[in-house]
Amino acid sequence: MFPLLSKDANIYISEDLTEDIEKLIKTIPEDKVFILTDEGSYRHCFPKLSEVKGISEDRLLIIPPGDENKNAETLQKVWHFLSEKGADRKSLLINLGGGMPCDLGGFAASTFKRGIQFINIPTTLLAQVDASIGGKTGINFDGLKNQIGVFNQASAVLIDTSFFDTLSHENMVSGFAEMIKHALIYSKESWKKLRKFDIHDPDMDVLRELVASSIMIKNHFVQNDPTEQFLRKALNFGHTYGHAFESYALKSGRPVLHGYAVAYGMICELYLSHLRLGFPMTDVIDISNYLKEVFGLFKIETSDYKELFRLMTHDKKNEANRINFTLLDEIGQIQVNINASEDEAISAFEFYRDLCKDC
Ligand code: GLY
Repeated sequence: MFPLLSKDANIYISEDLTEDIEKLIKTIPEDKVFILTDEGSYRHCFPKLSEVKGISEDRLLIIPPGDENKNAETLQKVWHFLSEKGADRKSLLINLGGGMPCDLGGFAASTFKRGIQFINIPTTLLAQVDASIGGKTGINFDGLKNQIGVFNQASAVLIDTSFFDTLSHENMVSGFAEMIKHALIYSKESWKKLRKFDIHDPDMDVLRELVASSIMIKNHFVQNDPTEQFLRKALNFGHTYGHAFESYALKSGRPVLHGYAVAYGMICELYLSHLRLGFPMTDVIDISNYLKEVFGLFKIETSDYKELFRLMTHDKKNEANRINFTLLDEIGQIQVNINASEDEAISAFEFYRDLCKDC
């Protein structure tokens, strides 16, 4: 039997994956249960579902992995698969994998025959604490990330940290960045607790508890503002600079995983929080050094600022041509929709570059 983590969002921590999935799908006729996964998750994670009564490879679709395949072409494959296999309004789609199958599968389910139910079984740390929670579904379009999509909550999200047994260390560290973000935007106590944890030598029992707390924090922001009108923007902390780092790193042939880019983004946004809101400089320095220690740094030069800044001005969270930041007054005290001048924004890159002088 699984413990319920959130009643409103039907998030469960699994204790016995087979039994728990069977419980979640028991009201659905067996031939109406479909499963979507990507190639890597099929290899590493699907075998854990092999004993589940009601799940059959006959109703399984394996899609190509990665953000580059989170597109309209893959989406059409899912619609086509559901159609061909006789899915109807009573059907259920189970999305198994990281953020990509959860986002794309959630959107496919939300739009097929005007919407069928879906369950997320996230298998990466990033997907468990972030991507699979909160009802953001969608695909990339015209070169822009998550450009097409809908808000629609999964009927259930089932969390099982034993999937991490086959997750790469780099992906574990990447997911940990979102946990750090959750702690910093929520409370000093959460931050103090998380900071003691060593993601480079993880105690899996402790991690399981921290994952649960992190999900509860995310859920707090989602439940209070499901369609991101105001409070949910707190979850964008570190992401305005983070997305610029991520795109720039990709363009310059030195790609970094999302969470690493968010960690670099948090360093800049902590500094900006100091400039705009008086966030204590001692904490900026302390947390930045911690982030540097955990994630290393992506080296930048002054000549990179212009392009990094341009990428930030293209962030889809901006409104009316203003860059909108989520910043902190102090740990656990967020302010959303804060603007900064170009000089202030650049000085945060300067602070970051200073930090990586000895990298
Ligand atoms: N990943 C941020 C959010 O779900 O709002």
